Amino acid sequence: MNIVEKAAEKLKTLQPEPPLPPQIENAVPLHSASTVERFQERVWAEVDPSTADSTPPWHVDEKALQRAGLLPREDGAGGRLADEVRRVKRPLLDNVRGKDVKPLEYAQRIVVTSAVPGEGKTFTAVNLALSLAREPDFEVLLVDGDIPKSDITQVLGLHGRPGLMEVLADEHCRPSDVVVRTDIPNLLVVPAGKRHPLTAELFGGRRMESVLKGLGGHGRQRLLVFDSSPLLATPESQTLVSHMGQVLVVVGAGHTRQHEVASALEVLGDSQYVGLVLNMSRLPAIENHYYSHYSHYSHYQFQDQ
Ligand SMILES: Nc1ncnc2c1ncn2[C@@H]1O[C@H](COP(=O)(O)OP(=O)(O)OP(=O)(O)O)[C@@H](O)[C@H]1O
Ligand SMILES: [Mg+2]
Repeated sequence: MNIVEKAAEKLKTLQPEPPLPPQIENAVPLHSASTVERFQERVWAEVDPSTADSTPPWHVDEKALQRAGLLPREDGAGGRLADEVRRVKRPLLDNVRGKDVKPLEYAQRIVVTSAVPGEGKTFTAVNLALSLAREPDFEVLLVDGDIPKSDITQVLGLHGRPGLMEVLADEHCRPSDVVVRTDIPNLLVVPAGKRHPLTAELFGGRRMESVLKGLGGHGRQRLLVFDSSPLLATPESQTLVSHMGQVLVVVGAGHTRQHEVASALEVLGDSQYVGLVLNMSRLPAIENHYYSHYSHYSHYQFQDQ
């Protein structure tokens, strides 16, 4: 060892090792986005005030729904509609339960959509949600996913309350903050919230998936029923539908052109369950007579109430 090396050795014994500069990676652990989302979902899962809420449930004004044409009038039409809705919901429930069918991813996420406006999406979503809420094994979250029109939000008097847009746009807003428990047993609602210029982007963003999982509920099995805007009218409806396991496409009898229905069906994924609902039909309620060339879809019929 030469003199310089000896001096260096000596110096080492006299001076303590300088502390390592703090490393950013040590100070702030970096998680992958999916880890953060899983953590966020777990926190959301542990705190779910929508199920332990002490505020009185929101009153659903059925008369207001009737006046808006979203529930049948009290003149006997309700019984027929109830049977028609039962036919629609049965295969949806079979898919959720995985009965006699191969498991469907996200089967509990159901969206009601259509090709063009005014075909009866909101009518179908409301009546389907009410019918599903009568099932003993489930609770139902009716989500107003039609941000531009937000008919469910308006008719239920929930405008001005935070909803889907707030939970997507504001990271401090939790899914449970926007869930409204109603006075109809097993029925919860998420209003649309305030219109947002980036609705399509928010529906397509990564937070959407964790919000959907957060809305999915815990404990009792929760079904999500989304109303949406028309598939051929807004970009966000196509994005919304892409997150869903089950899609009901409402076709207004004598209203929608066949090529419009075909274009709407083209945007749907192969892995989704698709049911076609022929709505406002004045024909006798027979099944499978409509658009028979879409043989791999299920067909139902709602008569004009
Ligand atoms: N089966 C039905 N029987 C009677 N009236 C119906 C039926 N389905 C829908 N309607 C009426 O048709 C109108 C349009 O229905 P709805 O609002 O559900 O359509 P929509 O597809 O949601 O429309 P938009 O695209 O504008 O949101 C409403 O006035 C509703 O009351
Ligand atoms: Mg509507």
